Amino acid sequence: MSELNPNKNDGEKTMKKNRRDFLKMTGIAGLSLAGGGVLKSCASESMNQNDTRLAQAINDYEKKHIQHFNMSGYAADKISTVRIGIIGLGQRGPSHIKTMSRIEGVEIKALCDLRPEKAIAAKKQLENTDHKAELYSGSEDEWKKLCQRNDIDLVIVTTPWYMHTEMAVYAMEQGKHVASEVPAAGTIEECWNLVETAERTRKHCMMLENYSYMPFQLLMLSLARQGFFGEIVHGDCAYNTSKMKNNFNKNLYWNMWWLRQYGSRKGNIYPTHGLGPIAQMMDINRGDKFEFLVSVESNDFMMAAKAKELAETDSFFEEFVGKDYRGNMSTTIIKTTQGRTIMLQHDATSPSPHNMIHGIYGTKGSALYDPQPPRISTGNHKWASAEEFEKIKEQYTPEIFHKMNELSKNSGHGGSDMKIDWHLIDCLHNGLPLDQDVYDAAAWSSILPLTDWSVRNNSNSIKVPDFTAGAWKTNKRNMDINLDRGGNTKVKCDF
Ligand SMILES: NC(=O)c1ccc[n+]([C@@H]2O[C@H](COP(=O)([O-])OP(=O)(O)OC[C@H]3O[C@@H](n4cnc5c(N)ncnc54)[C@H](O)[C@@H]3O)[C@@H](O)[C@H]2O)c1
Repeated sequence: MSELNPNKNDGEKTMKKNRRDFLKMTGIAGLSLAGGGVLKSCASESMNQNDTRLAQAINDYEKKHIQHFNMSGYAADKISTVRIGIIGLGQRGPSHIKTMSRIEGVEIKALCDLRPEKAIAAKKQLENTDHKAELYSGSEDEWKKLCQRNDIDLVIVTTPWYMHTEMAVYAMEQGKHVASEVPAAGTIEECWNLVETAERTRKHCMMLENYSYMPFQLLMLSLARQGFFGEIVHGDCAYNTSKMKNNFNKNLYWNMWWLRQYGSRKGNIYPTHGLGPIAQMMDINRGDKFEFLVSVESNDFMMAAKAKELAETDSFFEEFVGKDYRGNMSTTIIKTTQGRTIMLQHDATSPSPHNMIHGIYGTKGSALYDPQPPRISTGNHKWASAEEFEKIKEQYTPEIFHKMNELSKNSGHGGSDMKIDWHLIDCLHNGLPLDQDVYDAAAWSSILPLTDWSVRNNSNSIKVPDFTAGAWKTNKRNMDINLDRGGNTKVKCDF
């Protein structure tokens, strides 16, 4: 594979050295590997204490880290036909097949899932199309063969999130750009690993945070950039939606992986849908950055009880009884370096209606998405009338929405699934920077291990690493919502 990636051997050495450095930092090696036995054993010891090892390790690592190449604003060479491989074909993989297969200048070359039946079903989706995908299946490491192919430009990773970093790093080492489902990493070590690998290989590593492309979120980003809110002071955001049925469904997620995560971690384990769009409005990593956070969570009143109830009549659930489930409501406050605040929640259990909140509070205006209907205020202590709201929408809705609204309206998540995939491909076709870079992936994903630590340490505050190594002060905005450049990729057919 060396001809594909001349840096590979050096890369392996660097990776090994980095790994040794990390392992010396006992805080990160021990505390961030949440979900494993190590964390479980130190969890009860560190609960209600101020365990400073992680904070120390974050500081030490930041001091040692040198940014060799700034991936913010990075544009790779133009790719006229983007050849794709997808790893993980459960729920999310097929959704990307649906959108990607409709975009011109895309070839889906390879599909991989551990379970052969999922790979076969995914290939069926491509019947009657020009995509001739080869299948990889049947063993845990088959995905490596997909990454090693020399006819793939972009690897899309849609496995359970605790596998994302290993797969993304390996794909970049093999000379591929990567688009990873959310979140991109589950530990601080993994966040740094993504950053260092992307910088060294100069491969894109974009997290596919699709909620940024929802109609209201796009409008808010456009308003924020045009100064409608004045100085943004605070954002409220959440992913509050009951997943009780899904998480206890025996036939939905592979190997009950979500339930296992809720049964072994603390803190916000699904932060990016709420946080991503707010971070973009606040220019996080481009003029501001996350400084520190505190996280508090309720006890678990529902999941352990549900596991016990189900186990009474179904022995399948016995292994899920008695676990120390994550509390039902997770609430995190983040302070940014420029003095803004963000309140971020995650509740996957309560039977209340789906709620993203998405509240923006600025010196001149504010907005609130949930509870519906969405509202905007021009700073006069009142919500705008329906007519005023429509006028604001007309004036500020960005071009990406106009161009893609019709073509994406039948894709998932309010059309955002098509918009994100289309713009990713359009940027690769035109050699443009992507809408989210590896520093976004790392900063937004770092919320998982940091909130885990905070909850286990009496909700003490913890610094968020600066993955940009200071470049946040001068990095320029990305996510070209007005399609100033590119925007010429066609969609072959509607859904
Ligand atoms: N952006 C969104 O709106 C959105 C929505 C849902 C899920 N997600 C994210 O997408 C990811 C996948 O979620 P899902 O709901 O599709 O889960 P899933 O359990 O339905 O699918 C995961 C698939 O990965 C496969 N897999 C497991 N180990 C593998 C290995 N070693 N090699 C190859 N395949 C392997 C499984 O067989 C399974 O088919 C998660 O990270 C989740 O957070 C994002």
